[in-house]
Amino acid sequence: MFFDASLSGSGRMSCVTCHNPANAYAPANALAVQLGGPELNQPGARAVPSLTYLERTPKFVIRPDGKFDPDDGGVAKAARPVFSLLPDGKTWPANGPNSAKLAQLVPEGGMDWDARAATLPEQAGGPLFDPREMANRDGPALLARLRAAPYANEFIAVFGQEALRSPDSGLANAYLALARFQAEDRSFHAYDSKFDYYLAGRAQLSAQELRGLKLFDDPKKGNCAACHLDRPTKNRMAPAFTDYEFEALAAPRNRDLVANRDPAFFDEGLCGPARKDMAGQQQYCGLFKTPTLRNVATRQVFFHNGAIHSLEDAVRFYVERETRPEKWYPRQADGTVEMYDDLPPAHHTNVDVGDAPFNRHRGDEPALNDQEIEDVVAFLKTLTDGYLPAS
Ligand code: HEC
Ligand code: HEC
Repeated sequence: MFFDASLSGSGRMSCVTCHNPANAYAPANALAVQLGGPELNQPGARAVPSLTYLERTPKFVIRPDGKFDPDDGGVAKAARPVFSLLPDGKTWPANGPNSAKLAQLVPEGGMDWDARAATLPEQAGGPLFDPREMANRDGPALLARLRAAPYANEFIAVFGQEALRSPDSGLANAYLALARFQAEDRSFHAYDSKFDYYLAGRAQLSAQELRGLKLFDDPKKGNCAACHLDRPTKNRMAPAFTDYEFEALAAPRNRDLVANRDPAFFDEGLCGPARKDMAGQQQYCGLFKTPTLRNVATRQVFFHNGAIHSLEDAVRFYVERETRPEKWYPRQADGTVEMYDDLPPAHHTNVDVGDAPFNRHRGDEPALNDQEIEDVVAFLKTLTDGYLPAS
């Protein structure tokens, strides 16, 4: 099904069109967003993430602060949230009795940049029906495509006689199958990067890669590992390079995106508008999911809006956002820099300025110099799967 273009409205698009297995399940092209829809001419709204290393992502939940324990989570081993204030299908009152408590709560896990799908199976329905993606008109239309698929009999053998009787059961089974494929097939989580071999004592990092790793870890320099966790877990599971939490990094506005032609439109991640259930939760505006950095060197566009086009620039943005903002944001008519131009001013207070490398000021030296940026990039390249150790 993942490879089956007959499941799309155009008949020409499958999951693989955007999630190419030869490119860590992300597009091999440099477009900020991909084209889809019935005629394959509708631009998407966000950069396509890699689908590698999602298998340990916990189900979306809002929980009290305190670091997530990666040993507890994962779609393969259903996550047990501490508690959930977000029962399925319920919305929160914007200024309800829980709002003070909510401010100390941390959203975690889920699928998509804004985690609007809580789990992998829930996510699968998104692209199948998105009019800019696989563009199925409705459930019955997709059910008809599943019934006509060459694997319809296998589908019934696995899920039972009723499996393709109604759209409800047909779609639920299809989502489950797509999710299990992504959770189980080793190609989605090979754990065979140079860094994995290094952790296992079977490969050495070069001097430059080691310098990059140190800068990645150093809380006063890159501080990257604060969010992109790079240590094996307590149970000796390989690092996921994400803490599954959300941050407002204020990536520059991508003026090429169709929706952004409207100056009043802002994609604000957790608080919408693509995600609906947390509209009005001001403290979550501008926050996007911390992605894994595994396979990040295979990407050609970076951050949720694809505004940045090289890995080096992605790292440079971190250290220059506060120190040299004029390089990243446009100038207003009066000559001042339009800081955080992809967020409405009311939500600028959500932008992370407390953590290194963001805790510097205009004109300060960036936390990493040019050589150090190169070193971090060299380290990030060790996270690409498919490394062949000497023996
Ligand atoms: C037209 C391109 C396109 C197609 C086709 C497509 N996707 Fe995606 N996929 C995206 C984009 C864009 C996102 C990010 C969406 C967002 O954050 O709103 C995404 C996100 C995802 C995610 C979440 C990843 C993460 O890091 O949270 C999963 C899982 C996924 N897609 C699976 C699939 C599956 C399964 C199919 C086929 C049924 C599919 N996609 C088809 C473009 C596509
Ligand atoms: C405070 C948490 C935090 C810290 C610290 C942090 N990141 Fe990130 N990183 C994120 C979040 C959140 C995103 C996604 C933001 C978005 O798309 O708007 C991200 C995205 C990225 C991306 C783009 C990945 C992609 O698939 O598009 C790269 C590359 C990256 N980070 C590298 C780094 C490096 C290198 C450092 C250290 C210099 C670092 N990060 C420090 C949270 C963090």
